Amino acid sequence: MERQTTRISPADIVRQKEFCDQIAERLAALPQAPLAYVDTYGCQQNEADSERIRGYLREMGCGFTTDENEADIIVINTCAIREHAEDRVLGNVGALIHAKRRHPGQIICLCGCMAQEPQVAEKIRKSYHHVNLVFGPHALWRFPELLYRVMVEGKRVFEYTDEPGSIAEGIPVVRQGDVKAWVSIMYGCNNFCTYCIVPYVRGRERSRLPEDVLSEVKELVEAGYKDISLLGQNVNSYGKDLGLDMDFADLLEQINNIPGEFLIRFMTSHPKDASQKLFDVMGRCKKIAPVFHLPVQAGNDRVLKEMNRHYDRATYLDKVKRLRQAVPGIVLTSDIIVGFPGETTPEFEETLSLIEEVRYDALFTFIYSPREGTPGAKMPDPMPMEEKKANFMRLVEAQNVISAEKHAAYVGKTIRCLIDGKSDEEGCALTARTPGNRLVRVEAGDERLIGTFQDIEITSANTWSLWGKLTQA
Ligand code: 5AD
Ligand code: SF4
Repeated sequence: MERQTTRISPADIVRQKEFCDQIAERLAALPQAPLAYVDTYGCQQNEADSERIRGYLREMGCGFTTDENEADIIVINTCAIREHAEDRVLGNVGALIHAKRRHPGQIICLCGCMAQEPQVAEKIRKSYHHVNLVFGPHALWRFPELLYRVMVEGKRVFEYTDEPGSIAEGIPVVRQGDVKAWVSIMYGCNNFCTYCIVPYVRGRERSRLPEDVLSEVKELVEAGYKDISLLGQNVNSYGKDLGLDMDFADLLEQINNIPGEFLIRFMTSHPKDASQKLFDVMGRCKKIAPVFHLPVQAGNDRVLKEMNRHYDRATYLDKVKRLRQAVPGIVLTSDIIVGFPGETTPEFEETLSLIEEVRYDALFTFIYSPREGTPGAKMPDPMPMEEKKANFMRLVEAQNVISAEKHAAYVGKTIRCLIDGKSDEEGCALTARTPGNRLVRVEAGDERLIGTFQDIEITSANTWSLWGKLTQA
């Protein structure tokens, strides 16, 4: 059923900016210029959220530091996707007590997906007394107001009410770089894969209006950004909630029509919603990077069904085939979970055979991690961790061979790449990305080339990256 997305009014954002001004006045009374430290865990969506948090902090008059000891305001933007990520965050948040002892006026905030989990928020309330503010992704747009309450009322504030979620435009942004940029096109997820916590912490799917996305991308291109990644948990269902005659493929095509030399990327795509129309648009739009992240998660049909993925192996493989027909040579990557509850080793071997059949350029591999509140966490999970780890290693080793072979095929080719950074590594002056997002280490070259497209001859390769030299050097 279609649901109307809640849109935060411009007046509400103006109100938040007024809170920023009031906080700025208070911070101006500090003996030194106020500094903020923002630490981000997890996915690109979190990176994009942190850019908004930094935007608000800048409006509050803060500069930025990477040293928690000198920060007046600390914001830890967290990830809940796996237990390991949560444990790391809790360890690091616990350690902040030392920074706070040295700097008693310091305000410590915890936000992001972990903060939206009631049991985590309660744990922080009970056992991490040095944390002043906890707010989930739904409350991000109200960060200034919440921080103001902490400052004025001197109380700890917890804001993690469950809600379907909203869309807020006009939040200020401080971007991390000036070559690559992230643009969220939608938020939330409706898929409820049985292992995944995301739908519980990020709410239902909701799309930004196409005109808002297009004007943000235009501004970025005009500002010189060259590599623009469109973000959403499932970009292929973009627009479904808008009731407009426009889907993700149409949006891509319109972005492709924006003048200028730049690349468009997107992630993540759910295989069930990846359409032939999208493949065809990719085939004909030259600014859309020839790379597709299409998480398969598992190669066995019973496991896919238990995961609630809504596709089977054959359908997935057929989409890969059609994608490759539409965009020959496309770089294909995927996510895989090993050890989903009840997965047997013969079933896991079907994942192995699938990766051999598809021959992905790269894989992101994970051992299943039970997440409280998801159906998966209640499923019988008899396989010992040792066996899961052994299967995981088999997968990694098989993929390493494929990745190395795929990379070896680049040697001798000259590819137009985006120079995206400098490097201090021996034998490598600059880093670059192929259109398919493969990392290239460039032997020598001037830093002023960062942010430009250059022809690079690939001279050698290994499993993880390519080496090359500028043909114009
Ligand atoms: N355990 C392990 N991996 C997970 N992922 C999501 N939830 C879990 C979990 N509970 C993986 C999926 C997803 C990627 C972002 O993280 O592969 O595509
Ligand atoms: Fe999680 Fe599945 Fe939604 Fe991706 S599509 S965020 S794996 S529930």
